[in-house]
Amino acid sequence: NWTMDDFIDLQVAKIKEEVGSKKVILGLSGGVDSSVAAVLLNKAIGDQLTCIFVDHGLLRKNEAQQVMDALSRDLGVNIVKVDAADRFLGKLAGVTDPEQKRKIIGNEFIEVFNEEALKIKDVDFLAQGTLYTDVIESGTDTAQTIKSHHNVGGLPEDLHFKLIEPLRSLFKDETRELGEKLGIPHELVWRQPFPGPGLGIRVIGEITEEKLRIVRDTDAILREEIAKHGLDKEVWQYFTVLPGIRSVGVMGDGRTYDYTIGIRAVTSIDGMTADFAQLPWDVLQEISVRMVNEVDNVNRVVYDVTSKPPATIEWE
Ligand code: XMP
Repeated sequence: NWTMDDFIDLQVAKIKEEVGSKKVILGLSGGVDSSVAAVLLNKAIGDQLTCIFVDHGLLRKNEAQQVMDALSRDLGVNIVKVDAADRFLGKLAGVTDPEQKRKIIGNEFIEVFNEEALKIKDVDFLAQGTLYTDVIESGTDTAQTIKSHHNVGGLPEDLHFKLIEPLRSLFKDETRELGEKLGIPHELVWRQPFPGPGLGIRVIGEITEEKLRIVRDTDAILREEIAKHGLDKEVWQYFTVLPGIRSVGVMGDGRTYDYTIGIRAVTSIDGMTADFAQLPWDVLQEISVRMVNEVDNVNRVVYDVTSKPPATIEWE
């Protein structure tokens, strides 16, 4: 009669035995898998683990703080947070092609991670939140052939670490259950999928600070409203997109010429196919009113009513 408690005890013992008194590093993305792996390792070896959390400046509103609060402050995980937003935005300046953006973000991520890893002396192990599904699916995900998916925490090539992957036998649902057992907050454990390149592929075309601000603030409103109306369990993924076009509007006595925000919300099982979510009109209305009133430079909100295929879930 296998239980999650048995799993935790077994893994903690295994990690302790394997690591001994050596040091381990782990790339924390803020996502479920790396967070659960971090907390499990922390339980086994405490501060022999150093997590490197690269904040590329493309995270959602309050996301980095939420991760630091939950894992570092409340659960005592040893985390080095690297604020690398300027570096990433510098490299991305003027770049408009989606695949180019992904490549830059992916490469920069590995570079920042390696630099930090090299600062920690005598590290023997690299831990990763690889799941069973990653093991069996690696290389066969058709989405990967359409968009080069960059998942953070890739193995640094010139550093020779031994790998530790304590979640290798688990499915996503089991990983979430484990996360809750380990005391990670519900919102973190059950959060919707979020791509490695983050908001960088939700600002269509060139990424600027202003556009990131608009996408981040409208996304926060969308998430708040979806949660408030209890829709977060049935909608698989939901976010806003900034296509970069401007249109004419009227506010008070004046004419405006400002940005359009696109709302994307889909139902799906695994992201391979998806249907646009049939959100209630009154919820959409509330969301639209709030976005235009609360976020500067937005004067129009549109809803994406395309399924996948033929569209993809992200716009880039
Ligand atoms: P698409 O847009 O291909 O997305 O229908 C399917 C799922 O994959 C996510 N996605 C990514 N995840 N790096 C990631 O880690 C990426 O570059 C990337 N592109 C898309 C997307 O959010 C959706 O869940």
